[in-house]
Amino acid sequence: MTFVQVIEYETKDEDRVDRIMNEWLRLTQGKRTAHHSTMGKDRDKPSHFMQIVEFPSYEEAMRNSDLPETRQLADEMREACDGDPRFVNLEVTRDEILDEDAMMSLMGRVVTDLGAVALAPSLVIGERLGLFAAMADGTPRTSAEVAAATDCNERNVREWLSAMAASGYVSLDADGRFRLTPEQVVAFCDQESPYYALGGFQSFSAAASLETRAKLQQAFRTGEGLGWDQHHPELFSGTARFFRPGYATFLVDMWLPAMTDTVARLRAGGSVADIGCGFGYSTLMMARAFPEARCTGFDYHGPSIEAARRQAKQEGLTKHCDFEVAGSADFGGGPYDLITFFDCLHDMGDPVGALSHCRARLTEGGAVMVVEPQAADDIADNMNPLSRAFYAASTVICVPASQAQPVGRALGAQAGEARTREVAAEAGFGQFRRATETPFNIVYEMRS
Ligand SMILES: C[S@@+](CC[C@H](N)C(=O)[O-])C[C@H]1O[C@@H](n2cnc3c(N)ncnc32)[C@H](O)[C@@H]1O
Repeated sequence: MTFVQVIEYETKDEDRVDRIMNEWLRLTQGKRTAHHSTMGKDRDKPSHFMQIVEFPSYEEAMRNSDLPETRQLADEMREACDGDPRFVNLEVTRDEILDEDAMMSLMGRVVTDLGAVALAPSLVIGERLGLFAAMADGTPRTSAEVAAATDCNERNVREWLSAMAASGYVSLDADGRFRLTPEQVVAFCDQESPYYALGGFQSFSAAASLETRAKLQQAFRTGEGLGWDQHHPELFSGTARFFRPGYATFLVDMWLPAMTDTVARLRAGGSVADIGCGFGYSTLMMARAFPEARCTGFDYHGPSIEAARRQAKQEGLTKHCDFEVAGSADFGGGPYDLITFFDCLHDMGDPVGALSHCRARLTEGGAVMVVEPQAADDIADNMNPLSRAFYAASTVICVPASQAQPVGRALGAQAGEARTREVAAEAGFGQFRRATETPFNIVYEMRS
């Protein structure tokens, strides 16, 4: 344990004491055991000095005192000082040192995040007003030109552009005009791209409303959760838009082909139940890709199912694609060749109950496909930006949503393979495998 010695003395000859100390430092090079020393002069009494010397331990301090050079130093100090120096020996009981570099790096992160939180509403507003869309051709524009193209006030648009440029979301040219690079166009204008980012901002910031925050605060105390349906409606459409680009890119071309025998069954007129389908984008994609198949989306949230039905009608898919309000443990119909869960099994209060219900509703050889956010099993392996985003969203959305339902298993959006395998086994599935994965998702296949 660290040991500190305080030496207090008075002298009118500060320079002489300095010389004595320098000589001691020279002579004890490699021998002294003090690892840190601070000298201070009393502001109110310039002849009064204090030296604070830190040692790794009391024993090391004594070894230092026993050095012949230290004894000589003590004799010389006595001569240079008015009266005997006073020694106080302190066992250190608390030691708080602020590491300036660590502090600055933490503050750097905090400021970056502060910017992100402040930026989120502007991103949603900018999308709605068509500010990004007005710049989608990559042409450099002044704020006045962007304002005119979107029928907005120039001063507001100028501030918005400045915030976007400082975030790296819009580029600022040397002549003061603003433009989107091809990458920025993809991230903020191309809703079909897997890189499209604005749905995520809409979804994740929906839980930030004052009303939702107050409910969550209460839910943290009671553990009673906050139902999906109790959030601001922005969460429902935002989440659908957040996940849609990933599904549009991977679902039909990669995830379904990675499942054993599933594509052949769907082509041959098989049936699909998409559980927790939300706005039904995943259900509709399967219906579009497999016109012979019968696709039904289920969700316990009525307004989401209504939105899905509207979309199916708009796309002319209602003949073989429909939507029903139903919970994951009581949906009907079937038997199904494929039952899917897209980014929602962990939101359910009773994932085991849901999977058991599915097992009883599969055709012979049918399978359950569970798509979950990418995550490792061990929290220590999830210390990365993607997991950070999912843990953060899960704290305010997924875990409380599950807690609000019977059982309240609360797997969390970073459940990982081991915990997902566990619930599959508890539900009676004998076969479980990681069928495929992308940077954002893991796709599991479960069979009896
Ligand atoms: C994160 S959202 C995912 C929605 C959709 N699968 C998607 O990827 O866009 C979770 C969905 O699960 C639904 N959900 C949660 N618990 C449910 C339950 N017990 N039964 C049915 N749906 C449930 C919610 O209503 C919500 O639509």
